[in-house]
Amino acid sequence: MTLLRSLVICVGLLILPACQRQSALAPAGEEAERVALLSWILFAGAAVIFAIVLAALWLAIAGPEQLRSRLRAEGAIRFWGIAFPTLTLATLLGYGLWLMRETIASPRPAEMRVEVTGEQFWWRIAYDGRAGKPVAEANEIRIPVGVEVEFVLRTADVIHSFWVPSLGGKLDMIPGRTNRMRLKAQRAGIYRGQCAEYCGTAHAQMSLEIVAMPQPEFDAWLAAAERPPGPDGTVVERGAALFHSSGCDACHAVRGTQAAGTIGPDLSRIGGRRFLAAATLPNTAENIARFIAEPAAVKPGSLMPPFAIFSGEERQALAAYLASLK
Ligand code: CUA
Repeated sequence: MTLLRSLVICVGLLILPACQRQSALAPAGEEAERVALLSWILFAGAAVIFAIVLAALWLAIAGPEQLRSRLRAEGAIRFWGIAFPTLTLATLLGYGLWLMRETIASPRPAEMRVEVTGEQFWWRIAYDGRAGKPVAEANEIRIPVGVEVEFVLRTADVIHSFWVPSLGGKLDMIPGRTNRMRLKAQRAGIYRGQCAEYCGTAHAQMSLEIVAMPQPEFDAWLAAAERPPGPDGTVVERGAALFHSSGCDACHAVRGTQAAGTIGPDLSRIGGRRFLAAATLPNTAENIARFIAEPAAVKPGSLMPPFAIFSGEERQALAAYLASLK
């Protein structure tokens, strides 16, 4: 049984990199290409060393006496046991740092900037708005294709780690520090990312998506995101009234309304996002209603309290309102 389980895990690990939307081996950016190149060099080097070890093992067991005595000589042990690993690892470290040079310490000013703050267990996003005011978002980052974007990485609580494998390597978000990372998407697409540092109960459910789109589309999207969303229709209006009268706005903000809470994610565009709850739940009105009723059942560790006080119909109105915010 244990053997079977180990086998399933090993096969799973082999299959996982084939998952195209979140794979370091499916690069869609310059930084990710460097990481992928380094990975293949490591795989190839490890394969060659493994073959050498197997050959030496076979010689040590069944080889001619002359070779066996050479293998156990002190010189051979010093070379293969100390000199070879030291030299190989030092070379790889130097090469790895050289590959990373552009990503972390580039003197050039970045073409665009996005602030990302890790929170238990979601991502707070802020773009530089055209009007000079930041545009708040959450869990879904939009960037233009072919533009070098500087991600300004911070945390509001514990250590998180920002990692979108198809676009680049990972970088920790450390309390009291601001880390910077540059990524450039070479083609349009949706790239999934994941918090890569254990940060508490819902760490595994702290995902995000980067949507890379052509520059004109991105400009139109950002301009639309800057405008306050306008609710329409009666169910939606009822939901909006409930949202403001029930205290939702103490924690959440919706641009252009009295809701200006900053504890939870900004909801100004929640209806336009592909996923809910840090890219873990498809964005449907039904799922919004489910999350409102019992956040912790959907996402263990969520800091939002359950809102079982709402009737089913009230939850649907709230969900309709939120889904209308695009
Ligand atoms: Cu945030 Cu793990």
